[in-house]
Amino acid sequence: MKLYESLAGELQQAIEAGTLGPGDRIPSVRQLCRQRGVSPATVVRAYELLERRGLVASRERSGYYVATSGAPRTAPGRSTPSRRSTRVDVSELVFHVLEAARERRVVPLGSAFPAPELYPWPKLARQLGSSARQMDPWDTVQSLTPGHDDLRRQIARRYLRAGFAPDLQEIVITSGALEALNLALRTVTRPGDTVAIESPTFYACLQAIESCGLRAVEIATDPREGIDLGALDAALDRHDVRAVWVMTTLQNPLGATMPDAKKRELVALLAKRGVPLIEDDVYAELQFGPSPAPPAKAYDTRGLVLHCGSFAKSLAPGYRVGWVAAGRFAETLARLKITSTLATSLPVQLAIAQTLRPGGGYDAHLARLRAALQTQQAAALRAVQRYFPPGARITRPDGGYFLWIDCGPGVDALDLHRRAAAAGIGIAPGPMFSARREFRTCIRLNTGHPWTPALDAAVRTLGNLVRG
Ligand SMILES: Cc1ncc(COP(=O)(O)O)c(C=O)c1O
Repeated sequence: MKLYESLAGELQQAIEAGTLGPGDRIPSVRQLCRQRGVSPATVVRAYELLERRGLVASRERSGYYVATSGAPRTAPGRSTPSRRSTRVDVSELVFHVLEAARERRVVPLGSAFPAPELYPWPKLARQLGSSARQMDPWDTVQSLTPGHDDLRRQIARRYLRAGFAPDLQEIVITSGALEALNLALRTVTRPGDTVAIESPTFYACLQAIESCGLRAVEIATDPREGIDLGALDAALDRHDVRAVWVMTTLQNPLGATMPDAKKRELVALLAKRGVPLIEDDVYAELQFGPSPAPPAKAYDTRGLVLHCGSFAKSLAPGYRVGWVAAGRFAETLARLKITSTLATSLPVQLAIAQTLRPGGGYDAHLARLRAALQTQQAAALRAVQRYFPPGARITRPDGGYFLWIDCGPGVDALDLHRRAAAAGIGIAPGPMFSARREFRTCIRLNTGHPWTPALDAAVRTLGNLVRG
């Protein structure tokens, strides 16, 4: 971590703990330089970072103050799902909400995608063109599932940055993470089995469980630290759980990232019982911090973790390239893919592989993307804190582009969704994220778009709708 980042982290802690309250002046640049023996540039960078996070605001010729509208609100509490397993039936609701979010003129606060302009389209197009021209026609046969060797090698190389090296043989290229996740689920379960999932969870997880004829047992999940391992352990005692599906980093919709020690514990807990972990990790590259957290897969010594990733959020939306490092299940999973879609589009695999090669521009693009998302999150947080009623509880994830808001008692998120849609604003209502349609007072907002007066106005309208 850079010096200015750790300095900003310390001040952020003081603000979040309430030691520095809204409107308080924070030490001047000169004071902090003297106290810490650091350069003015370091302090200024730390303050600028805090400003981007919406925690402080500068006043002309007067210094920096803890932002009044940016005063941290309490995050929503840990969920309390039923201990019983349940059949899942959310598809109608999910399709209905997603359909409404597809229209261009709808303010995209309900969408699951960041702004398209954040991605390097011209460069991707050039790489797609040159890959297609240089493609060896024999590759169409040689690169059937598990996928093109070079792309799999580039993916394996990126794992090295997280401090471990999966076997190339366990990496299977898929059409986005969604195919990887569905294949993983079908590989390790049979219809009628029970799967443990987070509460709330990504709606596509619920739909996958529904379409495979499985039952779900929902596990309490904390908005900062993710799935509750005590509750998971107890559920594993009570139910014959055949797989656990967890988003370990930047959980959708909560934004929670499990601390490293907790990821390690999760893997150990499941290894003890021989239960496979389906690790949904599509937001891994969107962490704001300087040293991204490794996945739970890093601690897998028994091949029980099926780690699913994607380039849809980090590099090339619409190209539909993802993968799974499937551990001991790789061969069975690859066969399932062969019998369903045979292979993933080859020119697209080659184009992504080119970008991932050293000097291919992936890291530079990621740095820009993360900085944009961080700035946008700060602006969105400022707006929500300004316009929503004081009782609303809001998450502040360490990356990605979602905020989860518990609007407080008396709010019906489905009704709010209808009224917001009538005003031309999309939101994702809480019940989409639960097998039992819970989280009726919660919504997920997308902060993946460059902040504009129109977005600010939409959040103000939402705040008014929440106030009733
Ligand atoms: C948590 C999570 N997993 C998986 C996916 C699907 O990823 P892909 O677009 O690569 O299929 C998404 C997309 O929204 C997601 O939010």
